[in-house]
Amino acid sequence: MTSDNIGSDPGDANGDVVRIHQPLTDLLADGVFPHNDPFGLYADLRAAGPLSWNAPGGFWVAPRHREVTTVGADAVTWCSGKGILTFEIGAEYPTPPTMMHTDPPAHTRYRSLVQPAFGRRVVRALAPTINAAATALVDRLPTDQPVDAVAQLAAVLPVHVIGMVLGLPESDWDRVWAWSEATIPGTDTHNDPELRNTLRDEMAAELTRLIAAARITPGDDVISQLVSAEIGGDRLTDDELAMFCNQLLVAGNETTRNTISGALVAFADNPGEWTRLLDDRALVDSACEEILRWTTPVIAFMRTATCDTTLAGVPIVAGDPVLMLYASANRDELEFGPDADQFRIDRSPNHHVAFGFGPHFCLGAALARAEITAIINALADAGVTRFELTGPVGHSPSTIIAGITTAPMILHTR
Ligand code: HEM
Repeated sequence: MTSDNIGSDPGDANGDVVRIHQPLTDLLADGVFPHNDPFGLYADLRAAGPLSWNAPGGFWVAPRHREVTTVGADAVTWCSGKGILTFEIGAEYPTPPTMMHTDPPAHTRYRSLVQPAFGRRVVRALAPTINAAATALVDRLPTDQPVDAVAQLAAVLPVHVIGMVLGLPESDWDRVWAWSEATIPGTDTHNDPELRNTLRDEMAAELTRLIAAARITPGDDVISQLVSAEIGGDRLTDDELAMFCNQLLVAGNETTRNTISGALVAFADNPGEWTRLLDDRALVDSACEEILRWTTPVIAFMRTATCDTTLAGVPIVAGDPVLMLYASANRDELEFGPDADQFRIDRSPNHHVAFGFGPHFCLGAALARAEITAIINALADAGVTRFELTGPVGHSPSTIIAGITTAPMILHTR
């Protein structure tokens, strides 16, 4: 991608504000993600300035770390209630479709009710089960012969974990991928709108059944904890519970799957970093953070200005949407230094924004980290010495999730 799509508009009231002459979504859909090369475009955007106006799309684009964190941190000036994805611009929601679409004080209440079910203590207790599941999965995987690292490895653990966390019966687990693909716009597995609707209805019906069952006979799963979560007599309604579980099923699955797939591709592309990890297993935590920075599975989320304000010195009018381009912010040389475009498992500090920033910071971050480190440890314990790609890596055309659809490779043990 060259700078042809980006240019300054001298006639603009904001002087040197950069204008993008094509909708960002078109730019991204137009062959960039299928070839996994959005990073040239991101670098162009960062070099062009801290803020660009996407005229056809009608939104600002913030490609640098500083503005992404400034906007993310301030839920009063920058709201989520008017949509978090660019196709939602202009949408009005009588009731928020997800927790991510709520603003304070509703968001603060919601978050206080659900947060305890995802705390560090809960995840620490789950860790042995997650580690055992990762080990069993890796042990079943053929080594020294071609496998698809997405279907046979990366896709399996998150479904297992989210299924277990939500208390889904094992018979549902192989439906979870299909359900979440049907929920995320732009994923290419279920383009048929009727099939998408059928899958979404199927998922909603199953979650409603589980919520009703947890009210009668609570277990030790997250749905049962959420059903009984209470602060000062305040509880989640059935609709809020259904909406939240729906979100968990998707958020907890797609993102983690693509992070794990991206990690394996990153280690195949950077074999020295895997050797380094094998030599010093204490690097596993910083490797996990670098994997998150490098893969940034959630490409961007949007906020809308609630009042006239400025960002990076640029006047912003109330109602203007701004896209926080996480995937670009995580390669920002101003934050990560001159080697921002290198995969370095000992990077420190590493203030990446793969989990977002501010009050909506990912609720499942501890769980996702536990899954990523479990897979890395299991692969290292199994004696994998290097990953070799044996064919092209397939990328999803989604402009929301940086999806990897296939990653043919050999896991070498000798
Ligand atoms: C590598 C994996 C993951 C990534 C990269 C990721 C990314 C994100 C991001 C960027 C946000 C910010 C939303 C915003 O600012 O509007 C977010 C929020 C959220 N994530 Fe994750 N996520 C991951 C895994 C998970 C998991 C495993 C779960 C749960 C099981 C989860 C549940 C949530 C929820 C509920 C929110 C909404 C929080 C709020 O609005 O306060 N995520 N995630």
